[in-house]
Amino acid sequence: MRHPLPAASLILPAFLLTVPAHATQSGEAVYQSVCSQCHAQGTDNAPVFGDKKRWGKLVREGLNDLVPAALAGIRKMPAKGGKPELSDGEVAAAVIYMANAGGGKFAEPSADDLARWRQKADRRIKK
Ligand code: HEC
Repeated sequence: MRHPLPAASLILPAFLLTVPAHATQSGEAVYQSVCSQCHAQGTDNAPVFGDKKRWGKLVREGLNDLVPAALAGIRKMPAKGGKPELSDGEVAAAVIYMANAGGGKFAEPSADDLARWRQKADRRIKK
C-alpha cells in the first residue's frame, strides 16, 4: 500500500533539520529558560521580574552597567546566569526584557553596544 502523505512527510522534517540548534533566542525565551530560576522569586536578593521599584533604580543605572554585570556576574549571580553557552546578545536581550518589564524603554542593542559591554564585562572579570 502507498503511503498517503509522501511529500509533506518528507519536506517538513527536512525543513526543521535546517534550523541550527544554537539559533539566537529572544530575551523572553532566555528569561524563561535561565534567568527566571532566580529572578522570578528573588533568590539571593535577585531583583524580581516586574518589581517596578527595584528595577526602576536599575533602569536609571542603565544598560551600560546592567549588561556587563549580567555578562560577568555580580555577587551571588554567576556570569551569564550560570549558562556560559548563551551568547552576549542573548544575555543582553534578556536584560532588556527584564528591564523593560520593570519600567524601562530600551531598544535592541547595536553591534557596537554589544562590543562595548563585552569589554566592560572582561574588565570586571579581571578585577
Ligand atoms: C542563580 C541565580 C541567578 C540567575 C540564574 C540569574 N540571576 Fe541575575 N541576579 C541574581 C542575583 C542574586 C542578583 C543580585 C546581585 C546583587 O546585587 O547582589 C542578580 C542581579 C541581576 C541584575 C542586576 C545587576 C546590577 O547591576 O545590579 C541583572 C541585570 C541580572 N541579574 C540579569 C540576569 C539575566 C539576564 C539572567 C539570565 C541570563 C540572570 N540574571 C540570571 C541571580 C541570578
